[in-house]
Amino acid sequence: MTEKHTLAIVVGSVREGRFGPVVASWVAGQAREHGGFDVDVVDLANFEIPLALPAVSPKFAGDAYPRPAALASLASRLAEADAFILVTPEYNHSYPAALKAAIDWHFTQWAAKPVAFVSYGGAAGGRHAVLHLENVLTELHAVTIRDGLAFPNYFTAWQDGRPLDPAAPGYAKTMLDQLTWWAGALRAARAATPYPA
Ligand SMILES: Cc1cc2nc3c(=O)[nH]c(=O)nc-3n(C[C@H](O)[C@H](O)[C@H](O)COP(=O)(O)O)c2cc1C
Repeated sequence: MTEKHTLAIVVGSVREGRFGPVVASWVAGQAREHGGFDVDVVDLANFEIPLALPAVSPKFAGDAYPRPAALASLASRLAEADAFILVTPEYNHSYPAALKAAIDWHFTQWAAKPVAFVSYGGAAGGRHAVLHLENVLTELHAVTIRDGLAFPNYFTAWQDGRPLDPAAPGYAKTMLDQLTWWAGALRAARAATPYPA
């Protein structure tokens, strides 16, 4: 039997009344059904994520990066992940500040790992947010996955915790298949040779 990969599904919105957990919960269900992953839903609303970073860069500090104790479990859950799905809304044509802060507090946790995106929003379905995230994650040596899901006008496109589009589970499977492939390839590569970030 093929070994499972640890998949962290990050809920990127933290505001009161947010829709993010509905999307993340459905994505987590698709990932569990897929069978290739042990799923960990990482809800950023459960962490106090400071906006002020330490003087040193996480890139150069490595394990000695001075994170507050409140971020220890976030850092270890991201470190344990072999793959990520970032669930993001679109705020002013980008992604939420909480997600940027969570990304910036970490470095090795993202490196040489695959990241896929599930977005939602108004007419653009959160695609502006994803375009920005792709740039940012590349800077962190992550590998972004081409196929993801975008839900335009999510307020009419979802009912009872699931998307109305019957094609959505198929798109999710494609994304998860690609994520499994990359998770396996990159996990083997990281084990064989430390990534030179
Ligand atoms: C500050 C803010 C800015 C927003 N800007 C956009 C936007 O640029 N494009 C868009 O499609 N929706 C935008 N929206 C609408 C969000 O996509 C919608 O509120 C969504 O529910 C936010 O996700 P959340 O409920 O998980 O926080 C914005 C919402 C907020 C709160």
